[in-house]
Amino acid sequence: MAQIDWDALRDTARKALANAYAPYSGFPVGAAALVDDGRVIAGANIENASYGVTLCAECSLVSALIMGGGGKLVAFACVDGNGDALMPCGRCRQLLYEHSAAGMLLATVSGIKTIDEVLPDAFGPRQLAEFHRHG
Ligand code: THU
Repeated sequence: MAQIDWDALRDTARKALANAYAPYSGFPVGAAALVDDGRVIAGANIENASYGVTLCAECSLVSALIMGGGGKLVAFACVDGNGDALMPCGRCRQLLYEHSAAGMLLATVSGIKTIDEVLPDAFGPRQLAEFHRHG
């Protein structure tokens, strides 16, 4: 796998904080990822007066991935309002898994980890494909 510039990725995630819309929680989140074609994409959380409708930073990042031409996520970093590493919530680990390259890496609060480490025994597209192939 290509060398990953984690400092640059964290920097992009920190810059994305400026785009966060978090008037309700006061907890801005920025995210950034390297795509397998070399693109670097970003996202920020987008809250809603109907709190449960809030979009996490990973949601806007995945939207940017697809709207920017798709591809697979190779490396990912997420930061809180202090610029410190933040773990993707459970739902967002699933969101990221769907679009992960094999061996995707994440900058976590406990160092660099793979997507399989942060979402073990995941359910994903392969399970659906298997079912439809064999019943
Ligand atoms: N949040 C994210 O954007 N990503 C995560 O993985 C964790 C939580 C946001 C959602 C909400 O706007 C704020 O953080 C507080 O929960």
